[in-house]
Amino acid sequence: MSQEPKSQNITKVIPAVTREEREKMLGHKGVTVWFTGLSGSGKSAVALCVDQVLTERGVACTILDGDNVRHGLNSDLGFSPEDRNENIRRIGEVAKLFTQAGIINLTAFISPYRDDRDRNRKIQEEGDFVEIFVDAPLSVCEERDPKGLYKKARAGIIPEFTGISAPYESPVNAELILNTGEEPVEDSAARVVAYLEERKYMKKV
Ligand code: ADX
Repeated sequence: MSQEPKSQNITKVIPAVTREEREKMLGHKGVTVWFTGLSGSGKSAVALCVDQVLTERGVACTILDGDNVRHGLNSDLGFSPEDRNENIRRIGEVAKLFTQAGIINLTAFISPYRDDRDRNRKIQEEGDFVEIFVDAPLSVCEERDPKGLYKKARAGIIPEFTGISAPYESPVNAELILNTGEEPVEDSAARVVAYLEERKYMKKV
């Protein structure tokens, strides 16, 4: 479901090393673990914790985080609906590359639009995209306000702020919902790890 390339006369290279061979070498499967939720809901915190647990267990993993990626790959994008679409589209493609390389990639983006998330699911193979709704209520995120952004958004200093002056469309088919408004980060992370073990993306210890 990728869009048609603008380029012509391009031919795909077939890798000499298969994904299965890479996964056999690594001892686990590649998968995109797509965290979605409001700013301040705990996406990055949970992803960081999962990353630590997996790394200690010798799993090849990586984090793609909105605030970081917007400093580099997506530094040309803002927060209009079109720019958010493009932000999430590019990350969906990057995530697919990591998945095919056998890496467990944890993405932490608000990704407010359902269509964008669904498209990123569709460009991957069945089972390669696990959507996790980091479901802290707006009132909790606003109360936490770790970067002081909600305060600025309420004051009208930051326009198009998700949850305040821009939409957030909750997932309807998330594989996992984390109640990060109530649950400690470590418990949410443990539930993500347990899910990956149960679905045989990685071995149980
Ligand atoms: S997304 O909507 O395109 O998925 P992304 O996850 O990359 O957003 O970036 C969100 C982060 O950018 C927030 O955690 C916050 O720190 C910062 N930010 C700055 N302006 C906005 C805004 N208008 N809406 C939401 N987040 C913003």
